[in-house]
Amino acid sequence: TGLDALIKSKGKKYVGFCADPATLNIAQNVAILRAEAGQVTPENSMKWQSIEPSQNSYSWGNADTLANWAQTNGKIIRGHTFVWHSQLPSWVSNINNKATLTTVIQNHIAQVAGRYKGKIYAWDVANEVFNDDGTRRSSVFSNVFGDWTFLDVAFRAARAADPDAKLCLNDYNLDYSGAKLNNFVQLVKDLIARGVPIDCVGTQSHLVVGNGAIPSFKSTLDALASTGLEVQITELDIRTNASPSSQQITQQGNDYRSVASACIKTAACSGITIWGVSDKDSWVPQTFSGQGYALLWDNNYQKKTTAYNGFVAGINS
Ligand code: G3I
Repeated sequence: TGLDALIKSKGKKYVGFCADPATLNIAQNVAILRAEAGQVTPENSMKWQSIEPSQNSYSWGNADTLANWAQTNGKIIRGHTFVWHSQLPSWVSNINNKATLTTVIQNHIAQVAGRYKGKIYAWDVANEVFNDDGTRRSSVFSNVFGDWTFLDVAFRAARAADPDAKLCLNDYNLDYSGAKLNNFVQLVKDLIARGVPIDCVGTQSHLVVGNGAIPSFKSTLDALASTGLEVQITELDIRTNASPSSQQITQQGNDYRSVASACIKTAACSGITIWGVSDKDSWVPQTFSGQGYALLWDNNYQKKTTAYNGFVAGINS
């Protein structure tokens, strides 16, 4: 039983959740992870700010705890993340020289991917490189390089450091078919065409209950699958009012079913990571005032049967 076992019975690789020492300290949360997960993603501990806060000074403790917990409990790990404009220490964002930044990216990835070599199923090598209008996001990486080739540097460094890890490009708001999704797919095709080592695409899937993009979620996965790469749903949650109406609760069950079903019916979709276990530990209420209720377990670590059963029905579809 459990979501991971169920999706594996349908030929997929995993259902997982984000985790980190902060939530691995909560007994009820850990019991749910043990029973339901086949995969974990470090919610924060492997981000640049967390792991190399000052140059060549690594803070491995939280990431090691997460990685050791995963190994002890038989869960695969999605590594998250190397090249990202956010949670980036100022010593990196202040670099203004391409040669220096190239070496810094290569060294960071060599150290981090090298330390966890052989333990990572897939790395989010780069995260959120597009704006919502589909243009290239301004960051120290895109600004100093002036083009997309910071991705070439990062993916090559990751391949060199851990040849067995799948290397992903990850982004959010790909759900609303349009310029962002189209340009993301085109960028991946361009990377492949010029020989950059990339194996997978990640769609975060931070969704909103009742949003019109959800019934057509399969078309988003199909567009991503047109790259020819493995497709992963990497940070799923479906938020609504923190105190939802009964109609919103019902709709959320339908929405979780639609997403799970879309993965099941898309051959390239290998697995689904949900961005947290309990609503209590979700990023949503801190970011969107008055919103929450986005996950499959409530504030008391009790299963939300409508959402959970919807997700199960999607896997069984
Ligand atoms: O650890 C410090 C703590 O020492 C300090 O007292 C406290 C005060 O604010 O902050 C704590 O750090 C927080 C950290 O989470 C750990 O809890 C940061 O402020 C907070 O910004 C950070 O939020 C994380 C966010 O990424 C940062 O961008 C969320 O937990 C995490 O769920 C969220 O995850 C992202 C993915 O990485 C990328 N996609 C979007 C997703 C949701 O935003």
